[in-house]
Amino acid sequence: MTKSHQKVVLVGDGAVGSAYAFALMQQGLAEELVVVDVIKERTRGDALDLEDAQAFTAPKKVYSGEYSDAKDADLVVITAGAPQKPGETRLDLVDKNLKILSSIVKPIVDSGFNGIFLVAANPVDILTYATWKFSGFPKNRVIGSGTSLDTSRLRVAIGKKLNLDPRSIDAYILGEHGDTEFAAYDEATIGSKPLRQVAKENGITDADLDEIEDQTMHKAYEIINSKGATYYGVATSLMRITKAIFHDENAILPVGAALDGEYGLDDIFIGTPGIINASGLAGVIEVPLSEAEQAKMKASAETLKKVTKDGLA
Ligand code: NAI
Ligand code: LAC
Repeated sequence: MTKSHQKVVLVGDGAVGSAYAFALMQQGLAEELVVVDVIKERTRGDALDLEDAQAFTAPKKVYSGEYSDAKDADLVVITAGAPQKPGETRLDLVDKNLKILSSIVKPIVDSGFNGIFLVAANPVDILTYATWKFSGFPKNRVIGSGTSLDTSRLRVAIGKKLNLDPRSIDAYILGEHGDTEFAAYDEATIGSKPLRQVAKENGITDADLDEIEDQTMHKAYEIINSKGATYYGVATSLMRITKAIFHDENAILPVGAALDGEYGLDDIFIGTPGIINASGLAGVIEVPLSEAEQAKMKASAETLKKVTKDGLA
């Protein structure tokens, strides 16, 4: 059973946050949307602008609010934080954005919030872990965008190469949402056929697949270098996760999930497929990785663990 009135508090009304708010409006998701940011004029104006979409989408209460508005919210989405400047990595943002995050999670929890946190601010795997730590929430109620956007990028790239709908490509980017992520090609399928076989039949070599993986990993840098920030892709990823929660879908989606022994890892949030429903993360799907991919997962996790340890020390 899904609730008849669902409420989202969006914290961070910058490029990513406002694109997510727009995606929610377009999809008619959530009956109530509260927008919070340190820049009050911006949230006030954005709420007014967003409410103008209602007559052609679905009715929604949308307003500029405070952390205390989270007390009866179902979902808090965190997109507050500095984005990368050209030349910066996501991990370079850790100190700044952990400071911002710690000033957000506490007042949200103090409001009596008892819903699900969805985190997108970077470095997202570290910030998702920190949200879990700062909130004291059970792990299933803290979800990161993880490698959702990267997986979409990979599917789009493969779809272009094979002239197929990206939604028909069952391939994932796993690991850190960042420079140590990797494409789990060995288990990927298209129409139940192994992706590597379909690729070969279409004249796509392993070197071509490696190039697609590399371009996927670097696509954020390409976009940031040309227009300063990325936001439509991640906003749509966040919208998709929100829909799976609010419609209690039990959908398998790429997310940033807490691991409990999967891939031989624990005490970490990292990109993997997970089952998403109204309770949040209902389960992790452990991709049966080849030996070489398992080594990449381990290396990615080690990078994250080191930054988490230093950042939260
Ligand atoms: P932005 O600079 O446009 O927006 C950030 C917003 O956060 C600003 O409006 C700012 O006023 C607000 N903010 C700062 N401190 C705050 C606080 N204490 N409380 C409330 N609001 C606060 O940045 P943009 O482009 O929207 O990116 C936001 C974050 O999302 C960045 O960390 C970026 O790296 C990340 N991102 C993550 C992606 C993913 O796949 N997970 C993809 C794209 C961006
Ligand atoms: C992305 C952001 C910058 O577009 O994390 O991947």
